[in-house]
This record gives sequence, C-alpha cells and structure tokens, in this order.
Amino acid sequence: MGRAFTLMLPTFLKDSRIQIKAATDPNVQACEQFEKDFGVKASLSLEEMCANALVDAVYIASPHQLHAEHVQVAARFGKHVWVEKPMAITIDECLQMIEVCRHAQVQLMVGHSHAFDLPVLKTRELIRSKRYGQVKMVTAINFTDFLYRPRRAEELITRLGGGVVFSQGAHQVDVVRMLCGGDVCGVSANAVSWDPKRGSEGAYNALLKFHSGAQASLTYSGYAHFDSNLWMDGVGELGAEDSIFNPAQTRHRLRGIEDAGQEAQLKSARNYGGSQWNNVQAQSSPIQHQHFGPLVVSCEGADLRPTPKGIFIDSDHGHEFMEIDAPLIPRQEVVDEFYAAVVNGQALSHDGAWALGTLEVCLAILKSSETQSTIHQLSHQTELQI
Ligand SMILES: NC(=O)c1ccc[n+]([C@@H]2O[C@H](COP(=O)([O-])OP(=O)(O)OC[C@H]3O[C@@H](n4cnc5c(N)ncnc54)[C@H](O)[C@@H]3O)[C@@H](O)[C@H]2O)c1
Repeated sequence: MGRAFTLMLPTFLKDSRIQIKAATDPNVQACEQFEKDFGVKASLSLEEMCANALVDAVYIASPHQLHAEHVQVAARFGKHVWVEKPMAITIDECLQMIEVCRHAQVQLMVGHSHAFDLPVLKTRELIRSKRYGQVKMVTAINFTDFLYRPRRAEELITRLGGGVVFSQGAHQVDVVRMLCGGDVCGVSANAVSWDPKRGSEGAYNALLKFHSGAQASLTYSGYAHFDSNLWMDGVGELGAEDSIFNPAQTRHRLRGIEDAGQEAQLKSARNYGGSQWNNVQAQSSPIQHQHFGPLVVSCEGADLRPTPKGIFIDSDHGHEFMEIDAPLIPRQEVVDEFYAAVVNGQALSHDGAWALGTLEVCLAILKSSETQSTIHQLSHQTELQI
C-alpha cells in the first residue's frame, strides 16, 4: 500500500470489475487507513491475506526485490497475480516466478507500465495496419525529477534494484518493445550517475536494435531541471493537466533530511495512510491519457507522435491528428487485459515471458554501460507481431 498503490487506487475505486476484499502491508498506519476506507481486513501477513477465499487475484506493489517472493506466495495459494514493474531484479527470479505461476495454473501479469497507455496501443494498431510501411526508428525521451523524490535507501543502490534503469527503463523499454516488435538483438548504452549524494545512476542513453530491423533510442534523465511534460502539452505522466514540476521545490523538500531512514519516513508519510497522505488525490480523475514522455515513431511513410490527447500523423499526405477520447477510468487498459485473462482465459500481452524480456534489456543497458560494449547476448526476448 505504498506509492504504486496510491497511483492505482483511482482505477480500483472506479472500475467495477475490481472489488477490494483484503490487503497486506507491514505498515500499520496503511492497514488502519485501509480498514477505515474499505471496511475489510488489512493483514500484516501476506500468507494470512492469501488464505482469504474471497480473494481471486492479488495486486503486488511491494519493493522490486520482494516481487519474486511475493508472487510465488500468492501463486501457491492459487491466486492470479498482477505484479508491478519491474517484474523482479534478476533473470533467475523471473524464471522462478513464471514457473511457479505456470505450475499453479494462475495468470501472471506485469504492470502497470506505460506500454498499456491507450495512445501507445493505438499507435501500435496504426503500425500493424501497415498503412505507413514498416516502423524503422523510435525516439523516446523523458526528463523528470525522479531522483529527487523521497526514496527508500535501496532505491538509490543499483545492485539492490535501485536507480532509473530498473524503475523507469522498465516503462521506456516496454513501450519501445511494444512498438518495434519485442525482439531486441543489440543494446548499446551509457548510464550515468552525476550526483554523488543520490548514489545510483540517474540518467541513461540507450540504443536498441530489433530483429524486425527497427531501432529505438531511449533518453532518460531523473536529474532534470527541465520537465519534458512541457513537450506533452503540459500533461503529466498521470494524465493531469498543468502538471509541470518545480525543480527547486522538489530538491528543497529533501533539505534538512539527514539520513536514509529519515528520507524513507518522508516517502512513507506521503503514502496511503501516512501523515501527509491526501485522500482527495485518490478520488480525482485524470483528465487526459497517461504517458511516459515525448515519443516519435518513424515509419517508412509517416512519423507518428502519440500524445495524451491523440496521435499526430505527419505523412506524405500532410499533417493529421487522430483524436483519442479522454479516459473515463485511469489505467483502464491494465484492468481490461487482466480481466480478459482471468475471467475469459484470453492470453496476456504483458505476461511473465514478456516482462522477463523487458528486464533482460534493462540489465543489458546496465551491462553495456559498465563494459562499454554492445550487448548481443539476449536470450529471453519474445517476438510480437507488428
Ligand atoms: N507503474 C507505476 O506507475 C509505478 C509507480 C510507482 C511504483 N511502482 C512500482 O511499485 C513497487 C513499489 O514501489 P513504491 O514506489 O510504491 O514503493 P513504496 O515504498 O512507496 O511502497 C512499498 C510498499 O510495500 C510495503 N512493503 C514492504 N515490505 C513488504 C512486505 N514484506 N509485504 C507487503 N508489503 C510490503 C511497504 O510498507 C510500502 O507500503 C516498485 O516495484 C515500483 O517499481 C510502479
């Protein structure tokens, strides 16, 4: 019931396909808030929650390094699993998660990632229509204040799953794999750390080559003073309008924080049930579609540019805008996919095998940067029809 839960809460509250029946968190305040809000039990033990027969599926949003263990517990209790990105922090953990879910015959979906955003899915449909020829190149950019938001200690230690590659690369890689065919065959990258006070890498540039012949360049900075939401009509990652961060304010919030424990407490205070938790946030609707920064998809016959309100299409025939209706429920696409799998037995796009491929690319970004070489050894990529 941390930050990710607060971001999913508007979806859970608005989508009638979801009924909240139980929760677990070691944070007592979060449990108390939950029992007050939902009138059902919040437990301090995952096993106790999973033993609840009313629970069909579990949304797991614990820290990355706990995903593998928590997914396996839920699956062994026969619950379908929806786990946050990144799937885990090692390939072995992902393989175990897939195997345990397969054996338990439960669904395993990894998300939310911004590859679920409707403008990305509609761009994929345009690519698949072949109206504009083959996709050749994708350019993805995002400038954020990620590194200066309050963090748990391990979120700033790369070997423990911290840094922007695991947390943010998981979105960006997922988006470009969805658009270029999924099957990455080469990764060349530089991840950089330029603020010694924030430990992990905070920015990267990566070039991905795909078996489909397409390539994608990914630029991410979590050190930004410039907010690239300005290039998305001022719409923030979560779909809110006029959502431009103030770099001085973000950094100022950390002033006076003396150690990692105090910073983790600040993060927790802003989460569900914490002293700075704002319940109104959970009730309010985003106005536009969510996104992960500016994106240009260059096809042989057109450049496609998904935005929170629709897709700009610049082709030989001129300039068009394909409007997309504003969302009624934020992140509804994620529930659509999970519900179709759990209730109707449809195949997931964002299943364990897919997310393992995304994690493999994130690990390759770190390895390429460390070894200053191009990584070609990728053995967990999945091909997607484009
Ligand atoms: N998709 C998104 O937009 C998005 C956004 C934020 C975070 N996330 C992901 O969600 C996960 C959590 O990140 P966060 O920023 O919410 O962290 P957080 O620290 O805000 O929340 C983590 C929560 O897990 C709880 N927790 C710790 N140990 C636990 C245990 N043993 N059992 C049950 N709960 C436990 C903590 O008490 C806390 O409430 C990460 O994997 C992150 O990548 C996804």
